[in-house]
Amino acid sequence: MMRKIKQIRSADTSILSQITAMEQKCFSDPWSLQNFIDAAENACTAIWAALDGETAVGYLVCFCAAGEAEICNIAADPEHRREGIGALLLETALAAHPEADFYLEVRVSNTAARALYEKHGFRELGIRPDYYENPRENAIIMKRGAPAGRSHA
Ligand SMILES: CC(C)(COP(=O)(O)OP(=O)(O)OC[C@H]1O[C@@H](n2cnc3c(N)ncnc32)[C@H](O)[C@@H]1OP(=O)(O)O)[C@@H](O)C(=O)NCCC(=O)NCCS
Repeated sequence: MMRKIKQIRSADTSILSQITAMEQKCFSDPWSLQNFIDAAENACTAIWAALDGETAVGYLVCFCAAGEAEICNIAADPEHRREGIGALLLETALAAHPEADFYLEVRVSNTAARALYEKHGFRELGIRPDYYENPRENAIIMKRGAPAGRSHA
């Protein structure tokens, strides 16, 4: 697999505008720059950027509190798909919270993301009807339990 990524690093505010531009290319209901700034200022939230030099080519936002983590947002630049960026970002988040149960929502039609999550141990937990807009669509809730013996009591 081709790996162009030089590093994954915690996103500082200077990189958030690049991430916001990528977000607009990737989603029909994108987060605003302010959404990313708010996430960056939340002590329970981590934002990781995948960098090719100084250029962000992917990002992931993860909220974690009380042993439960949520993948709030993840994307790879459309020009750099299928290069392992999404997997690297997801593995970074999972490794950062080895004792957490992970949750996320994904559009039913998003076969790429669903395959990525399944490959990393996420399983379907249920459906959230009409969760998404533009277009309206159900969300699948997915969970990846902490590896045996590591979960919070
Ligand atoms: C989902 C997304 C982040 C995957 O990122 P990526 O960097 O292209 O994914 P990777 O190259 O790391 O792929 C890892 C695995 O995911 C699965 N996968 C990724 N893209 C896929 C596709 N188009 N079709 C089927 N499986 C796919 C495969 O299992 C793949 O492993 P493989 O390449 O060894 O077969 C990317 O498609 C994306 O940014 N989509 C738009 C934003 C989005 O939908 N985010 C998720 C919101 S819930």
